Amino acid sequence: MKDAAPQTIYLKDYTPFGWRVESVYLTFRLAASATRVLSKIRFAPNPDAPDQRFFLHGENLDPISTRIDGSETTPRAVAGGIELDVPDAPFTFEAEVEINPAANTALEGLYMSNGMYCTQCEAEGFRKITWYPDRPDVMAPFSVRIEGSEPVMLSNGNPGASGDGFADWHDPWPKPAYLFALVAGDLVTHPDSFTTASGKQVELNVWVRPGDEGKCAFGMEALKKSMAWDEATYGREYDLDVFNIVAVDDFNMGAMENKGLNIFNSSCVLASPETSTDANFERIEAIIAHEYFHNWTGNRITCRDWFQLCLKEGLTVFRDAQFTADMRSAPVKRIEDVIMLRGRQFREDNGPLAHPVRPDSFVEINNFYTATVYEKGAELIGMLKTLVGHDAYYRALDLYFDRHDGDAATIEDWLTVFEDATGRDLSQFKRWYDQAGTPRLSVTDDFKDGTYILNIKQETPATPGQTRKAPRIIPIAVGLLNPNGDEVQPTTILEMTEAEQSFTFEGLASKPVPSILRDFSAPVILEHEVSNATRAFLLAHDTDPFNRWQAGRDLALDTLLNMIRDGAVPGTDYLDALHTLIRDDTQDPAFRALALGLPSQDELAQMLHDHCETPDPQAIWEALETLKQVRAEAYQDTATRLYARYQVTEPFAPTAEQSAARSLANAAMSMLNRLDGGALAQKQFDDADNMTQQLAALSALIAADKGETAVARFYQQWRHDRLVIDKWFSAQIVHARPEDAAAIAKTLTQHPDFTMKNPNRFRATLGALAMSGAGFHHASGDGYDLLADWLIKLDPLNPQTTARMCTAFETWKRYDTDRQAKIETQLHRILAAPDLSRDTTEMITRILG
Ligand code: PHE
Ligand code: ZN
Repeated sequence: MKDAAPQTIYLKDYTPFGWRVESVYLTFRLAASATRVLSKIRFAPNPDAPDQRFFLHGENLDPISTRIDGSETTPRAVAGGIELDVPDAPFTFEAEVEINPAANTALEGLYMSNGMYCTQCEAEGFRKITWYPDRPDVMAPFSVRIEGSEPVMLSNGNPGASGDGFADWHDPWPKPAYLFALVAGDLVTHPDSFTTASGKQVELNVWVRPGDEGKCAFGMEALKKSMAWDEATYGREYDLDVFNIVAVDDFNMGAMENKGLNIFNSSCVLASPETSTDANFERIEAIIAHEYFHNWTGNRITCRDWFQLCLKEGLTVFRDAQFTADMRSAPVKRIEDVIMLRGRQFREDNGPLAHPVRPDSFVEINNFYTATVYEKGAELIGMLKTLVGHDAYYRALDLYFDRHDGDAATIEDWLTVFEDATGRDLSQFKRWYDQAGTPRLSVTDDFKDGTYILNIKQETPATPGQTRKAPRIIPIAVGLLNPNGDEVQPTTILEMTEAEQSFTFEGLASKPVPSILRDFSAPVILEHEVSNATRAFLLAHDTDPFNRWQAGRDLALDTLLNMIRDGAVPGTDYLDALHTLIRDDTQDPAFRALALGLPSQDELAQMLHDHCETPDPQAIWEALETLKQVRAEAYQDTATRLYARYQVTEPFAPTAEQSAARSLANAAMSMLNRLDGGALAQKQFDDADNMTQQLAALSALIAADKGETAVARFYQQWRHDRLVIDKWFSAQIVHARPEDAAAIAKTLTQHPDFTMKNPNRFRATLGALAMSGAGFHHASGDGYDLLADWLIKLDPLNPQTTARMCTAFETWKRYDTDRQAKIETQLHRILAAPDLSRDTTEMITRILG
């Protein structure tokens, strides 16, 4: 069978499939290197799409036999699958194929992970299992029989008969093939149950390898909370008798929402205080929720085609963010999300890989599981909710579930639901789905005779394939403070629809201080000349927690940019305002820890680039180091006090409260670490009984160049635990001095525990290097060279993870000519690798521009 030749697929070319699938029966005869898959599929002509040739996808399948209505036929091999002559009436297609899970290193289709069979079918992996119309608009009920000697054999839906050597499953809900899943192996469960609002009892399991039983309880609690939350918030109940979660060590992504059988990267579900940090716990809770929420937003209502990916992902990310905000602290979650959005999505939106939230073409769909589709997609839902209001939002969602249950839907369907539920015209809002690039808002203001005017201009720079952008509707949340710090105008939503627009506030006694883009009400870059005194004022007085944090962040950015540009010394505006905040024990410790956080090296580089300056990665790193040192010296007494005050004395619990205390204490520890030669960090490392404390101490010791013993001890303590050893790999690279990072990463690739077959380990090593800022961008070019070496090695084994990591190079045009030339050489070297995958070819080609 030939592979499909790389070709571009366009949204405008969408046509429905010429047949409906009425039922699917699959039998798997498991064998590690020769699994047989028998299929029996009932097709009926689709009256809406007549006169098509009958085509089924299939890749790397060894055909054994094919029958139509019981008679043998020989399919014609065509690019990406087969064609057959079929009757002009309903018919039964039967096939037997052989596949080789043991040889499947791409981790797509049916593969082996540590002796366990598992599948990954989104987006187009099912075609590596058997012949099928592998497209999300073809939905069918699946019945599955698994034959094999594995102790546990799972598939989607509800369990049927099982016995010696077989297990039957039936999923009554019609689903696209990308939601199919099968797992078989030596697994143990952490069981529980949940009673739905209508009184239905659901059996819950978290399945893990023997030995990991102790790391399931937290994930199970998160699942039950998610089920209750979706009932309470969206009125959505679970719809099968069982819900299974399986942890898998080798997985390209975070997790997958297969119907009734979610499969998780073990790093996104296994948790214990000794092995997981507070950040891990929060992330695990969010991902469990995310996959569970897909049961309605993704599975019951799926996507018509892959261009509509944001329909399920943007909405589901938005829903999981709401969940985390409800379970923990809403402002903290919002600030964390915006840091992530700016770090990943703004970076993408402002470089060669920029694409609309709903792209209109792709070569390899796996390359479009991006921060733009997911995180910007979620921001669009948030804006929509802000524009229509809370009640109308939930009314529209009820209508969406009502109207589209069982459908494969589009963004047009989604927006029409909102138009019908609210009477609003959303044609301008739709531009957010079609236009790439981050809008920039520039703001000026006037005050006269009690009237305050905000003049706002929006502009979106050109992105690949889109030179001119039309103005979008932007909800801008604004509040006004008077000079005493009292709020004189509570949060109001300005609806900007024009390229330039003025907004007026009347009846003010004096010129107010504006707080603009509260709660980050739109994914835009705000440009507003504000004095540092005003920023300090907002940091102290704004009633909007997000904008308080933003004021502190702006002070830090201003300070750092001045240091980078002309070696200025850090200003007292910033140092004093921050000191006032962190000293104040009435303030949330999590908020204070976030305020002590600094912009990343990458964010600073992007800022300089935005101002038409060429970032020097080494100068950025040095400015950050200097600022941290200056802060440590200025805040020493406060840091000492905070460290003592925020020690958690109760037994470890992964709660928002404890996590807040630990993050502030650890921020204090890393300041003191700069003054005491590592003594406190070493003590914390020695005493730690949880991973949050241990890893923070290890990182501090490495950063202070005092890590040698701790690094060795950590390895001895945790050598049996893959997920902890991932942390060990990445900490050594991320916290290395820039001139050492590439060499350390290279040495670690020679460590016996390094393997490129495990995506987590590959990311912990090469991904850590790619994210190390000045280390990756060191003038020697060694970082570029090492990453390119490994991408070339990984590509034949795992194209998806290789292509994803190519984004390390997406910012190359920011840098000086020397670095650009070095990166360009590596990009061409990768592109020249023999038989480079379609995934990586597309990424490198787009990055080269
Ligand atoms: N659909 C998954 C999620 O976001 C992500 C995923 C995509 C996983 C492709 C595997 C492969 O929940
Ligand atoms: Zn998702």
